[in-house]
Amino acid sequence: MSLRDALRIPARQITDEAVYRHRRQLLAGLAGGPAAVLAGCSRAEPPPPPARPVDPVRARAGLVTTEERTTYEDATTYNNFYEFGTGKADPARRAKSLRTSPWTVAVGGECARPGRIGLEDLLKGLRPEERVYRLRCVEGWSMVIPWLGVPLRDVLKRFGPTSKARYVAFTTLGDARQMPGLAWPSLDWPYREGLRIDEAMHPLTLLATGMYGRALPPQNGAPLRLVVPWKYGFKSIKSIVRIDFVERRPFTSWNDMQPDEYGFFANVNPAVDHPRWSQKTERRIAGAGSKLFAERIPTRLFNGYAEQVAPLYSGMDLRRWF
Ligand code: MTE
Repeated sequence: MSLRDALRIPARQITDEAVYRHRRQLLAGLAGGPAAVLAGCSRAEPPPPPARPVDPVRARAGLVTTEERTTYEDATTYNNFYEFGTGKADPARRAKSLRTSPWTVAVGGECARPGRIGLEDLLKGLRPEERVYRLRCVEGWSMVIPWLGVPLRDVLKRFGPTSKARYVAFTTLGDARQMPGLAWPSLDWPYREGLRIDEAMHPLTLLATGMYGRALPPQNGAPLRLVVPWKYGFKSIKSIVRIDFVERRPFTSWNDMQPDEYGFFANVNPAVDHPRWSQKTERRIAGAGSKLFAERIPTRLFNGYAEQVAPLYSGMDLRRWF
């Protein structure tokens, strides 16, 4: 039995993601039809958040899990960071060129106190805490990682978001001199992500600066990244240089490139398959042993954080707003 058979991966999934996507983009451009229609449909404004706020005590349960952890070695050598290549081993090899100090973040849009701020000042007075979170990648693997970071809400509040701030948009550094992957159109650079403001303000949403008790290594998004544990990993944007409070749903790299495959919400949901593969199970990369033959376990709604986050989506059709 070949490795592919063993993993039960259909041949069409073996195509390099970036090649596949670029091909789809070209085809969509040539056809001008269905993709444009789909994209238009996806630009519809999602329903507003529920009026009833999340119970903060309940929301904070789930900051830690006793599940077996991913080893530091696996968490730092099996990565997605397309700015350094589309292979899982590329970021660990190539992200060494990322200069993470000094680092400034520009904050703008619908807020009382916009400006450019150095990383130290951005985090001043906030003590990083450890959060052991599951992170489920849309590709079907998951890890359990002890992150160090501050609740994103504590940072956002410093800028005084106005009542027009309905979403928060995030942008990764886009420096081709430091990021060799930018030479390829695998994504519409710079990498961008966004959250509805109530998702950004949820106590589980972490602005991470470290992992395993040390500073974040470049391949994991140094010096500053999001970790949104109930959403597919692509929402957890790395190496953030810009944060904008906005009124309309912001552009996000994956959703805007392939709206039929990657939803804006990207909530982990075993009942909503990706068009090219099932999301019912995941390969849990934890403890010692081969990553390729890691145990498959059932995927849980909201990645197991339903008790903490389901109220954010009450009344929302999770199939339409996937
Ligand atoms: N952020 C940027 N800037 N570029 C990326 O390619 N990949 C995303 C996310 N953040 C990505 C990114 C995806 S698909 C995943 S699964 C997670 O980062 C992986 O995080 P990790 O490498 O720390 O496990």
